[in-house]
Amino acid sequence: MSERLVIFDTTLRDGEQSPGISLDAKEKLEIAEQLARLGVDYIEAGFPVASQGDFEAVRSIARTVSGPAIAGLSRANRGDVDRCWEALCDADRARIHVFISTSPSHMEHMLHMDEAQVIEATRSSVARAREHTPDVEFSPQDATRTPMEFMLEVLSAAVEAGATTLNIPDTVGYGIPWDFGALIQYVRAQVPGDYVISTHCHNDLGLATANSLAGVKAGARQVEVCVNGLGERAGNAALEEVVMAIAIRQDQFEGVETAVRTEELARTSRLVARLTGYPVQYNKAVVGRNAFAHESGIHQHGVLTERSTYEIIDAVSVGQKGSQIVLGKHSGRHAFSDTLAKMGYVLAPEALNSAFVRFKELADRKVAITEADLEAIVGEEVGDAGEEDFALEALEVVGGTVGVPKARVVISHKGDKADATSEGDGMIDAACNAIRQATKTDATLVGFNVSSVTGGVDALGDVVIQLEQDGLRVSGRGVSTDVVEASARAYLSAVNRIDRARRRHGEATP
Ligand code: KIV
Ligand code: ZN
Repeated sequence: MSERLVIFDTTLRDGEQSPGISLDAKEKLEIAEQLARLGVDYIEAGFPVASQGDFEAVRSIARTVSGPAIAGLSRANRGDVDRCWEALCDADRARIHVFISTSPSHMEHMLHMDEAQVIEATRSSVARAREHTPDVEFSPQDATRTPMEFMLEVLSAAVEAGATTLNIPDTVGYGIPWDFGALIQYVRAQVPGDYVISTHCHNDLGLATANSLAGVKAGARQVEVCVNGLGERAGNAALEEVVMAIAIRQDQFEGVETAVRTEELARTSRLVARLTGYPVQYNKAVVGRNAFAHESGIHQHGVLTERSTYEIIDAVSVGQKGSQIVLGKHSGRHAFSDTLAKMGYVLAPEALNSAFVRFKELADRKVAITEADLEAIVGEEVGDAGEEDFALEALEVVGGTVGVPKARVVISHKGDKADATSEGDGMIDAACNAIRQATKTDATLVGFNVSSVTGGVDALGDVVIQLEQDGLRVSGRGVSTDVVEASARAYLSAVNRIDRARRRHGEATP
């Protein structure tokens, strides 16, 4: 008999709480569509009461994305619950996820509520949520530091009021696998009712995946996870790790199955990395670029003779099948859009035009263009195209070991063009300074990372830049065969994000 393990993806809610990530509604929608393709059961699309931007993102995902049910987070009060429902109500299937802190520390220092008040807030908010939808999840925040007796009381109140999923958050990543597993088992045994029990594990001790799996072993039938392990502080349990552990170790999780199409894991990971500006560490399990790379001669020999000698996962099964050549300089617009469609990109005519121009420029410099190259340039066009955005029209740089490096840029913005020239410590610095002048921004560069999209001397340079201004930290990404140009594009994309974020507002976080 098989039993479904529900995959509740919270990349767009908890994942977006990673420092420096600020996705706009369009980017969230793109990720949500890919999560639907991946086959997750739930997409937690955001925290609608936190800001107007979050509300709109949840609403647009609820209206457009089909397949997974759409969830929204809500504090345990009527106003939040109603606002959450307003964002979700157009979804085919919607879940309200109500949470309240239950640990003594949170109750004293954050909520200023006593136990009776927390129980009452739980009861009334869950009951209110049930008036909107039959699918209500309840989370006692900081569960792993909550006295057991009190937690059982709160959870029982939630079930009596109509909660259908009880989620046990290890909010601060304090859990240890056997202890966390025992907690899940105890709750199941002590709280009567018809509900699904769920895990939500943070990674402060590097144990989020292990704790989630211990929870599943103990009877949890939902796991809350983020793509690439994103999330507050050290992140949440990584979706790809939990899903593959369940798939590969069926001897341990007999009959437990997810509906995830694992071949979509690598692409989902790349998309999330690109839009969030959080690169995936090279040796990251399942989706890291080294996850299937073999360095030592003995290992290489083994894998060439028989793959299973040193690999427990088939790279193809997680979409890491190596880069394939898909297009070249003679490929025309038709082949280009056809290839994109096969890769799952349906672009509006304007975005398709500018992506095609970028493709042709790239094809002049690079003989063979792979799927990963296309993803990088197309992603840049799709993600950053906005009417109010700054665009790079021209870049000239002079540098070397003699003289001061200089750069000149032409930036267009709402029909106007600005020209600026600047010096710098190097060509990249000079280009960024010139952009700063042309866009009249005053952000501080706090992070710079360069890597290559694929191998070879003509590989695309992939640059991620982090900028900070007035306490707001954002990332921007740029790709080009020329690292200075990639850096300028990344810098400008971060400037655009600051500009867009300023037009939105962000307040409460869970
Ligand atoms: O970590 C946490 O406690 C949360 C809750 C809102 C579920 O993210
Ligand atoms: Zn969390």
